[in-house]
Amino acid sequence: MANRLVPFSHDLETSLALARAAAIARADPGENVTDVVRFVEGQIRSGSARGGLWMVDGRSVGVAVWDPPEPLGIAVRLSYLVPPSATPAAYRELLAAIDRAAGPVAFAAPLPGLSLGDEAEVLRSLGFAPFHRTEMRLPSSVPIPKFEVPAGVTVRLVRPGDRDFIARVHAAAFGGRFDRYLFLEDLDPARDAARVVSSLWDGRWGEFLSGVSFVAESAGTPVGSTLVIRSEGRALIADVAVDPAFQHRGVGRSLMIATIRALRVQRELVIALAVTEENRPAFRLYERLGFVRAVGPDRRWYSTRIVPVAPGTD
Ligand SMILES: CC(C)(COP(=O)(O)OP(=O)(O)OC[C@H]1O[C@@H](n2cnc3c(N)ncnc32)[C@H](O)[C@@H]1OP(=O)(O)O)[C@@H](O)C(=O)NCCC(=O)NCCS
Repeated sequence: MANRLVPFSHDLETSLALARAAAIARADPGENVTDVVRFVEGQIRSGSARGGLWMVDGRSVGVAVWDPPEPLGIAVRLSYLVPPSATPAAYRELLAAIDRAAGPVAFAAPLPGLSLGDEAEVLRSLGFAPFHRTEMRLPSSVPIPKFEVPAGVTVRLVRPGDRDFIARVHAAAFGGRFDRYLFLEDLDPARDAARVVSSLWDGRWGEFLSGVSFVAESAGTPVGSTLVIRSEGRALIADVAVDPAFQHRGVGRSLMIATIRALRVQRELVIALAVTEENRPAFRLYERLGFVRAVGPDRRWYSTRIVPVAPGTD
């Protein structure tokens, strides 16, 4: 019998058990995976999860879960083979089946059960390279640094009329950068930025917190912004962007300090953000402000054949 991916509904209980095992297997030691497990289980039960159960000779030996297609391809969230079946050759076969079932894989997940060396060999031979996503948080004990704004720049709260200008800043800041492809909505950079900003502003990923989101402006035009949402109970600084023509002057830092100050005034318990560790300007900015790694670094893989730019390059 050919090895194949079948819908989760083929054997719901086994799908749930394997998805749980997959989420646990790819977590860091000590990481709390309850939320991830609950999320994946909920999606599988409701029938909204994309993915399938991997059958070998009629037995369920693995599971794969992926995100809805993006313009470049899919992002695999979980790929998992139960330990005796977790071999490099078996993972190659599973990845090929995902590719056939869902289209090109732009982002791949780790391959639990393989050594790091074997995982790298499999994924590199298929054209993938690693990157690392990390959630950083600001410990409540960290004092807020002094608020200074570069000459000719003012920092203020966002206003409804800023949305289009912020989209333009976002397009300029993220254009041609790796992080843009992580959340790609549209291949056209201007439309993509407009959609990303609208998604945050309209609350697609969680309530938009306009009272703690800031704009930096020069000569009356926005040149940078921070957009904050409420996500899983925490305040998440979801978007930070500075127009390249205004970078390296302290605009990013002043926007972040304004945001942190406002969040502290509101007595937010958890101030979080997610960053690609290879994005050194962003990572350094957050570290200097006192943010520390809270979850991750989470190793993920991007297809060098599909994503046109490597993380950390300009
Ligand atoms: C990350 C980002 C917001 C930083 O904005 P920025 O305005 O350049 O940030 P700052 O000016 O405060 O700091 C950046 C660097 O300039 C330096 N700098 C600040 N003021 C300076 C000045 N007056 N003269 C020279 N250098 C200065 C800082 O020390 C820092 O140096 P470092 O990166 O070597 O540590 C910006 O690079 C950006 O928009 N990137 C693309 C989008 C992105 O990746 N966003 C984050 C996603 S998580």
